[in-house]
Amino acid sequence: MPLASYALGVMEASVYAPEVFARGLPAGAQPENATTAVPAAHAAAPLLSLQGIGLSFGGVVALADIDLSVRPCEIRAIIGPNGAGKSSLINVISGVYRPDRGQVRLAGAGYTQVPTQRLAHLGVARTFQNLALFKGLSVLDNVASGLAYRVRSNFAGQVLGIGRSRGERRDALSRTDQILEFLDLAAVRDRLAGTLPYGLQKRVELARALVAQPRLLLLDEPMAGMTASEKSEMADFVRAARDRFFTTVVLIEHDVGVVMGLSDRIAVLDYGRKIADGAPDEVRNDQRVIDAYLGVASDNEALSQDEGRAGI
Ligand SMILES: Nc1ncnc2c1ncn2[C@@H]1O[C@H](COP(=O)(O)OP(=O)(O)O)[C@@H](O)[C@H]1O
Ligand SMILES: [Mg+2]
Repeated sequence: MPLASYALGVMEASVYAPEVFARGLPAGAQPENATTAVPAAHAAAPLLSLQGIGLSFGGVVALADIDLSVRPCEIRAIIGPNGAGKSSLINVISGVYRPDRGQVRLAGAGYTQVPTQRLAHLGVARTFQNLALFKGLSVLDNVASGLAYRVRSNFAGQVLGIGRSRGERRDALSRTDQILEFLDLAAVRDRLAGTLPYGLQKRVELARALVAQPRLLLLDEPMAGMTASEKSEMADFVRAARDRFFTTVVLIEHDVGVVMGLSDRIAVLDYGRKIADGAPDEVRNDQRVIDAYLGVASDNEALSQDEGRAGI
């Protein structure tokens, strides 16, 4: 990212959500460092790191000795066949699962189990593998519910109605409208979420996760079930969110072609183990990945067609 736009972006983002960014940007990504010549994503300490994570369900080893580091502002993909442990990893990062072994370090603090009920306060937001919208609420209310943790209301759908003060309500509404605009959802703002086509519902989920401007965004198959053009649109939005808000992204996605084009680094899981980790080109050419995951796919075209082992 050009340094000038980086600095301007930080200022813009700081105005937009001062408390998130005061707390949210890791040391290496503070605005004053933008004057150095080293891109923040490569210079800074990891925003998230997993060390020696192990997790079993009965006899099933979902995760075995997983190390993973995620740098600030990075788009970090996790790929692997069905059952490889990808969702389990996101569930460990978000505190839904407590690993049997290992530690999660998030912005410098270490956890044996991340406090999932405090996730939003830690600046972490996620989407789920299956749609998890309030189908009978408007798009606006769904997205605003991503701010529910900030206001003293007790039900997400009422955020805009019974926030503590008029200023708080106005602030929530303005943030929500800005995100709707940013993700090109303004035209469906007042529609019931359940009436939208699937691809748009996935985008509303992204909006809900982004509205609080998390420093870390966990996306579990945000493009699953989409057409090729919807996927590429979604990939553009994820990239734009990172560029505009400096959001660090951990992304699970089946479409290897999309992942190769979108990600800075890719970790490959197979049967709960990490079998490769690196830049897209390194992973693409890794023999273990080709053998275990990409199967017979042997050229870029094949890689982009969801081929390889069943379940990719
Ligand atoms: N809550 C759970 N209870 C029992 N088994 C689980 C649970 N979650 C995941 N698993 C098992 O762990 C393995 C990894 O699953 P998952 O993380 O969902 O894989 P992926 O997301 O890569 O498809 C699978 O064998 C799955 O059946
Ligand atoms: Mg999964």
